[in-house]
Amino acid sequence: MNAPEFIDTAGKIVADGKGLLAIDESTSTCNKRFAKWGIPQTAETRRKYRELIVSTPGLGESISGAILYDETIRQQKNDGTPFAKALIGVGIIPGIKVDTGAKEMAACPGEKITEGLDGLRARLAEYFQMGARFAKWRAVFAIGDGIPSQGCIEANAHALGRYAALCQEAGLVPVIEPEVLMDGAHTLRTCGEVTEEVLRAVFIQMHLQRVKLEGLILKPNMVLPGSTCPKQETVDEVADATVRCLLRTVPAAVPGVAFLSGGQTGELASARLNGMNLRFKSRLPRALAFSFGRAIQEPALEIWHGDPRNVQAAQQALCHRARCNRAARRGEYNATVEGDHRKHTAHAISDLELAGSAR
Ligand code: 13P
Repeated sequence: MNAPEFIDTAGKIVADGKGLLAIDESTSTCNKRFAKWGIPQTAETRRKYRELIVSTPGLGESISGAILYDETIRQQKNDGTPFAKALIGVGIIPGIKVDTGAKEMAACPGEKITEGLDGLRARLAEYFQMGARFAKWRAVFAIGDGIPSQGCIEANAHALGRYAALCQEAGLVPVIEPEVLMDGAHTLRTCGEVTEEVLRAVFIQMHLQRVKLEGLILKPNMVLPGSTCPKQETVDEVADATVRCLLRTVPAAVPGVAFLSGGQTGELASARLNGMNLRFKSRLPRALAFSFGRAIQEPALEIWHGDPRNVQAAQQALCHRARCNRAARRGEYNATVEGDHRKHTAHAISDLELAGSAR
């Protein structure tokens, strides 16, 4: 019997030093990001922004797949081409966020459970018809006094297992995203302990629910000190702690890990990914890739500002950030690569300022 196609797709997602671009912000999250820059929060501005991203020249050189949101996969470019078709046309695999959000977990203050299983089989079949070949489901775990609880870890891991099995049944690669949040003053060591516990629970569920490990991608957090922890470890220390955690918890059959950025700056996310690949790439059983949202998009969104005159400069900034992460996958990201990016971004911003002063 031939191997299912989703196993081949999982390999393609992490092949050639590329990674995923997450543009699957829900409508409310996308609106919040727009509000920060005074961009109107309408379906049309969201469509224009996603068109800017999808049409970025050269994006497919660094990006293997793009994660869309339900609204976005139903939208088209100005010329009528559906976004999923446009992505396929430039060699980027379309993916889709299929959870319906992390909601307050009953009886567990400060904890969340991700919803979206009801009706999922039918939704996956529809997304497959629309061209999606992988899906994403995000579970979130906050670190705090007595949390995450065993109940929260088990419930979310179980939901991830149900989601992953349904994805493979529908021919889609499940990207499983158990995110331990970096908010708080906890130490790197605590983040490592919690991440280990979460990943163990997740892979027990993958096993119990008969998910094929060769056909999934893990999208975890890096092991980091909390954002307000006074001690912030070096890039190398983060690389060591993250790789140790993955070696202890992720079965070797899993073809790839694609980290989320979780609120790190673009530069730091690239540097830490680079540190892992530089130090461990030759000794690891799998690819260490990226599936960044903010860490790739932020400069582009700031430059765009909702103004059509800034589209090209924003696309260049997006492409540069994606290239930096491709370099990080090879362990070749350094000040020169980032310097080009900075020069480019500074140039784009000064062009903008010039354009602004001429207005
Ligand atoms: P960030 O890289 O901005 O954390 O986004 C990744 C993502 O897909 C969140 O679910």
